[in-house]
Amino acid sequence: MVIGVPKEIMPHEKRVAATPETVQRYIKKGWQVIVEQGAGQGSYFSDEHFVEAGATIEPDVERLYAKADLILKVKEPQFNVEKNKHELEMMRSGQILITFLHPASPANHEMVKMMAERGIIGLTLDGIPRISRAQAMDALTSMSTCAGYKGMLMAMNALPKFVSPIFTAIGSIPPAKVLVVGAGVAGLQAIATARKLGAIVYATDIRPEANEQAMSLGAKIVDLEIPAEVATGTGGYANELPEIWLEKERNKLSEVLPEMDIVFLSALVPNRRAPILVTENMVKSMKPGSTIVDISIDQGGNCDITPHGTSETKHGVLIHGIKNIPGHIPETSTRMFAKNVYHLVDYLIRDDQVHLNFEDEIIASIIVTDGRQIVHQGAKEAMGLL
Ligand code: NAI
Repeated sequence: MVIGVPKEIMPHEKRVAATPETVQRYIKKGWQVIVEQGAGQGSYFSDEHFVEAGATIEPDVERLYAKADLILKVKEPQFNVEKNKHELEMMRSGQILITFLHPASPANHEMVKMMAERGIIGLTLDGIPRISRAQAMDALTSMSTCAGYKGMLMAMNALPKFVSPIFTAIGSIPPAKVLVVGAGVAGLQAIATARKLGAIVYATDIRPEANEQAMSLGAKIVDLEIPAEVATGTGGYANELPEIWLEKERNKLSEVLPEMDIVFLSALVPNRRAPILVTENMVKSMKPGSTIVDISIDQGGNCDITPHGTSETKHGVLIHGIKNIPGHIPETSTRMFAKNVYHLVDYLIRDDQVHLNFEDEIIASIIVTDGRQIVHQGAKEAMGLL
């Protein structure tokens, strides 16, 4: 088994899919690991560290793709400007790719189709089910923890005012107001971070348990008045809301948005396009100088004018649509990510063979293309293939 770890090519992405520690573990199993030269630089792991752990360093990424059976990446495959080729064009039929593919997001549909056409077996980390035996593989939970923390700090940093209440000789300065929409892993971490810095935090989710957790962290709840049976589906996950309920939710949010300094959008239904909860008109109603952090951008975004993969000021509101917020704390996020990937790889490989049993809940949830066709339910629905 030859594992290939290319350098990430998304602009400003500093993470890498393996650390010297996980390389050592792969090597102990008798597998070979090839790491692209400089791949760990952004997260402070040098080529020398990887070599000490037992990896081979490859300066030419095309050769790395050619030699590996299994490719480990952080972000979805994209066009490599230096090689003037898409990363998928360097891969071959039957080769396995493990990364975040976010296959239901419209921005990734062409890439997913290309993966199927080229016969690549694509496994997506955002599909790992949140069940106890898959916890160690759950890279989305790890990365959402990073995104909740760093995304909130980014918003605060951009704010033209204090976040905490300040008492001065010229009077007191009130704290900033923050709204978190979607109190899942990322949202709860964002709430905790904002509370620690003294902001007044409002939160909302369609799942009653999520609201209770947000409340226990000190958030005030904006009640969306969506019945629990409409909001929650099998396994306790959120349901995709029918348009009529989404409209009601947008109306409720419209009432509080004009008061907010920071709006943190982290609402997601697993394996679906993110619901649109903030429209352009709603952004227009916000205070000039306020900030939106739309971390659901990988799945299309919760705000309909979030810039894809970047930050822009629109109608006086700074909107962050950055797709790799965990890449802004690369040392910690790489350590977490690489360990999650190691546990998944260890689960998949036995006797030097990758075992893809489609009856297995974990594998059925992560497989996007099986080497011949697109098999991911959410992607097929979003692409209109069903
Ligand atoms: P999660 O599944 O734990 O939480 C999502 C929450 O949204 C759930 O509590 C769910 O009940 C809620 N929700 C669903 N529909 C809703 C609606 N209509 N209104 C309000 N709440 C609703 O997801 P997690 O792990 O917290 O991730 C959140 C988002 O962050 C995902 O889109 C994920 O891909 C993204 N993410 C983005 C990163 C970035 O760098 N941009 C990095 C890591 C995660």
